[in-house]
Amino acid sequence: MPRKNVKVEASQKSASKEALPKKKLKNPIVLQNPRGMKDILPGDQGYWTQVRRVLESSYQKYGFQRIDIPVLEYANLFSRSIGEDTDIMDKEVYSFKTKGGDEVALRPEFTAGIARSYIQHGMNVLPKPVKLFSIGQAYRYDRPQEGRYREFWQANFDIFGEEDSILDAEVMQLAYRVLGNLKLKDIQFQVNSIGCTDCRKSYLSLLVSYFKSKNKKLCKDCKRRLGTNPLRILDCKEDKCIQVSSGAPQTVDHLCEDCHEHFKSLLEYLDELEIPYSINPSLVRGLDYYSRTVFEIWSLAEGKRLSLGGGGRYDKLIENLGGEPTPSIGFGLGLDRIVMEMKRTNAKQYEAPKPRIFLAQLGKLAKRKSLKLFADLEKNGILVAESFGRGGLKSQLRTANKLGVDITLIVGQKEALDETVIVKNMVSGTQETVAKEKLLPLIKKIMKSKLVVLKYNNK
Ligand code: HAM
Repeated sequence: MPRKNVKVEASQKSASKEALPKKKLKNPIVLQNPRGMKDILPGDQGYWTQVRRVLESSYQKYGFQRIDIPVLEYANLFSRSIGEDTDIMDKEVYSFKTKGGDEVALRPEFTAGIARSYIQHGMNVLPKPVKLFSIGQAYRYDRPQEGRYREFWQANFDIFGEEDSILDAEVMQLAYRVLGNLKLKDIQFQVNSIGCTDCRKSYLSLLVSYFKSKNKKLCKDCKRRLGTNPLRILDCKEDKCIQVSSGAPQTVDHLCEDCHEHFKSLLEYLDELEIPYSINPSLVRGLDYYSRTVFEIWSLAEGKRLSLGGGGRYDKLIENLGGEPTPSIGFGLGLDRIVMEMKRTNAKQYEAPKPRIFLAQLGKLAKRKSLKLFADLEKNGILVAESFGRGGLKSQLRTANKLGVDITLIVGQKEALDETVIVKNMVSGTQETVAKEKLLPLIKKIMKSKLVVLKYNNK
């Protein structure tokens, strides 16, 4: 439950001690996470674990390797990659100067950092394509609302070194599989081609003359963009600009022959794969590094439109950052939004295996021995519940009953001295005392198929 701002002042802690003068703290602690950021509490982890498990198995099946990059990068990496005149760089990036005087920024997305890492570590010498998977938090200083946060989670799939459109289809198929495995329905891809640098030149001059003729109807920002980055006008969220943009020339009508062929073959692959898509000529995406294919993944459930992910080609990014020409394609999934959708549709959560054995102890020596016994069982992959902090046998047995375990192991003073354990079968009610070395075979016999043995065995 989110709680209202609770300001704890030092004086509150000593409120009962009337005699002490109340100190006013200059900087009261606000017990609330920063706006647009949230805790992911244990109650929600079942959804998050399910998402992580599906992502993990998908990236491995599709031949990706995991990469982790820092949350901070030098700020100019983002301005050079994402583009100066974009919403992200204009308004949303968290940037600051370090004590050492470096201009750094919290990553607003992953692609720039991954491209930087690709060049820095000479990944160009690896067999192509190089397929990289990444997951973590990203930060954008935007107005928070449902599904839009200032700290959010993304998973990214990026492929370097291939320009064939089959790769574009492959990443879209992968995204569709991930969402399908999470049982999300009503998914639709929005696709467009914004052409390469060559065909975009002539397209941009057409676009500029169109917007110049409508200059008066554009917002203040777009009037400026007309001179700096006219493609961004198509991405403006102001109603009047959306209206003007609806009549603007469309990129798909002005593609060069190669780009046209590339887009056409992508659509053929998507038809073949039966991936639901719609060509969206106004889709340009809010990041400057894209060329040719751009796409978004929309959830259209209940008549709403929620973008669960987006991506596209960035054939020039590596080169623009100083690497060798490396055509690339990738996409990012918004995990907070995916979890939101899973909750809304009551999708399956991951359930951790539950222990079927409880370990109770009585007395000082037994307590000491029981921690060792717990570790021995755990090494054999057997899940055991306990309440080591409790002293009384009654309360421990109550806990065992509540958990509904099949066996309770009891170690008292006598058992601790004799190196034995009492094994209480909670189903039949019978109990017997066994030597410690015979415990494991006995547990296995009682539990047979019921035994919860972890898949991994970290002896
Ligand atoms: P993006 O469309 O900016 O693309 O973000 C991808 C996804 O992240 C969005 O579709 C959305 O689900 C989620 N997302 C973005 N901003 C927020 C936010 N403020 N709160 C919650 N979720 C959000 C990129 O970031 C590209 N770098 C993706 C990419 C990877 N392109 C090539 N490779």
